Amino acid sequence: MSEYSATVTVALNSDSQPNRSYDIAIAAHSLKNLGDKLLEIGLGKKSKKVLIVSNPVIYKHYGETVQASLSKAGFDIAQLILPAGERFKTANSLQRIYDAALAHRLERSSVIIALGGGVIGDMSGYAAATWLRGIDLVQVPTTLLAMVDSAIGGKTGINHPQGKNLIGAFYQPRLVWVDPEVLKTLPAREFRSAMAEVIKYAVIWDRELFDLLTQCDRLDRLRDVSSKLLQTILYRCAKAKAEVVSKDEKEGNLRAILNYGHTVGHAIESVTNYRLYNHGEAVGLGMLIAGAIAVDLGIWTADDQAKQVTLIVKTRLPQTLPKDIDLDAIVDALSTDKKVEAGKVRFILPTAIGSVTLSDRVTSDIVKQNLRQILA
Ligand code: NAD
Ligand code: GLY
Repeated sequence: MSEYSATVTVALNSDSQPNRSYDIAIAAHSLKNLGDKLLEIGLGKKSKKVLIVSNPVIYKHYGETVQASLSKAGFDIAQLILPAGERFKTANSLQRIYDAALAHRLERSSVIIALGGGVIGDMSGYAAATWLRGIDLVQVPTTLLAMVDSAIGGKTGINHPQGKNLIGAFYQPRLVWVDPEVLKTLPAREFRSAMAEVIKYAVIWDRELFDLLTQCDRLDRLRDVSSKLLQTILYRCAKAKAEVVSKDEKEGNLRAILNYGHTVGHAIESVTNYRLYNHGEAVGLGMLIAGAIAVDLGIWTADDQAKQVTLIVKTRLPQTLPKDIDLDAIVDALSTDKKVEAGKVRFILPTAIGSVTLSDRVTSDIVKQNLRQILA
């Protein structure tokens, strides 16, 4: 990945709000240049204080490089290392970020840097959105999922004990700084799981990406994905998300398509107590079901569904559910989805490769029937 660099802009201009556009800058070995980049985009002009939020695993690998880079650029750094994992995406961790912000005397013009995956990114984002009613946020994603999805687009938040991501805000970062080299230390399961989101973008938005993925023999390990394909994945997914977010920042309508596979996926995650599948694995299953439902409704061909299944197989994502899983519980869980409107679950269904539609025509029976088809 030595020479590669690319930039995608999330364009956020409207008459009512000043320009809040920002770049997703993708460049190999760029972690060491973060400090200079912050100065270049005007951060650190008034306050030089930054708070890096990370977790022990990520900080051990990359903390020193980031700190050295910021130090060289003259920033006054504090860091907060939170425990790793979704179960720490809590009000308690958020409180610890506020405590660190207070201890380091962050000001309105100071910066919070999220160095990590989606968990660190979402929590730090929400802290930045709310501390002093909003301070600058920079996302430095270290998982493939965060690079292609969670660090982009301004959804921030924490979990409530009763449900995922129930507390949050839309708050855009000033910069998303992607160094793909950090993926070399990412655990294989995290890579596979994020590939489900990559397949999602290909199905909902980007036929060319779909074709490129189709040409690949294996998609389950970083070492089997060429540098060129990885670059293409990072660029095209960032571009897809940027385009969708630019058109519909606060999920009035279009942005909902980014939840393709997530409706059933979330229900499966919840019914299996977040233990059996991680997020991407559940999304993979959700896409299988959404595709099968679309075939039943006659809006997507069996041939395209087979192509989608092939990508999921090549990524070694799960394709079956345990035979004793409670299908009624999955269907019940659908009705608590955040995307329910006027009591109706809105499904995102594929219509062609690169294109989806929103539908409230999906009955519990169709869902259950298709879930039954993938019981082990
Ligand atoms: P994560 O943040 O939990 O990271 C996964 C694991 O990988 C962690 O154990 C972490 O320590 C480790 N890790 C991270 N980077 C590493 C690296 N470079 N080398 C070695 N280990 C590394 O998981 P995730 O998949 O990045 O994010 C999931 C979260 O993102 C969920 O909370 C989900 O709700 C959220 N999310 C948010 C959005 C959004 O738009 N804001 C979108 C999708 C998902
Ligand atoms: N991950 C869904 C979204 O950002 O809207």
